[in-house]
Amino acid sequence: MMSPSVLFLYTTVDGQTKKVADALQKELEVANVVYQLENLENYDLADIHWKNQLVILMGAVHTGGFDPKLIAASQDDAFILHSDQTHFVALNLIARNKEKTKIENNVYVREFLAATAWQPAHTEIIAGALNYTKYTKEKQDSILRVMAITKGPTDITKDYEFTDWQQVSEYAQKIVGFVKGEGK
Ligand SMILES: Cc1cc2nc3c(=O)[nH]c(=O)nc-3n(C[C@H](O)[C@H](O)[C@H](O)COP(=O)(O)O)c2cc1C
Repeated sequence: MMSPSVLFLYTTVDGQTKKVADALQKELEVANVVYQLENLENYDLADIHWKNQLVILMGAVHTGGFDPKLIAASQDDAFILHSDQTHFVALNLIARNKEKTKIENNVYVREFLAATAWQPAHTEIIAGALNYTKYTKEKQDSILRVMAITKGPTDITKDYEFTDWQQVSEYAQKIVGFVKGEGK
């Protein structure tokens, strides 16, 4: 039987989710897994061929919630129907604390999943980036409030990348195992 191909559907505001998707696709390439990478902004969900396909929905939390397009995808009937062929990758800053890479400890992911009948076969929670120097004043103020509450860095003259690239690499290997039929 042919191995499934992987479709990455991502949303990204400042590019970090795209950077994670790029890292994942590089590893899939090495493992000879067929993949496609699409920005959810310009993608019609009706175009997904669910047959022999693993669909990975990716996005980050901005001001307490996920992109409306990502929310819409999670509530799409086809997604719900094919839950066992889907993964969810969620970036946020509270995940810089390892404990919060677990669904039950991550309020954003927990609430997001509670609001839909979609039950992805796997959910990966990854820490994002904090690029203070690249944000507008308004964005800086918004994220500063989150950092003050969660005791994160508040030096706006610096940029921080909390993404655990080892975790990303391990997740890539999980995808390879999934498509090659070695379990989820
Ligand atoms: C304006 C703004 C608001 C954010 N709000 C939150 C938040 O409420 N909680 C959180 O954990 N992370 C928050 N983040 C962090 C993002 O999830 C993180 O920067 C991520 O890497 C963004 O991914 P993207 O570049 O793919 O959009 C926020 C980031 C920005 C710029």
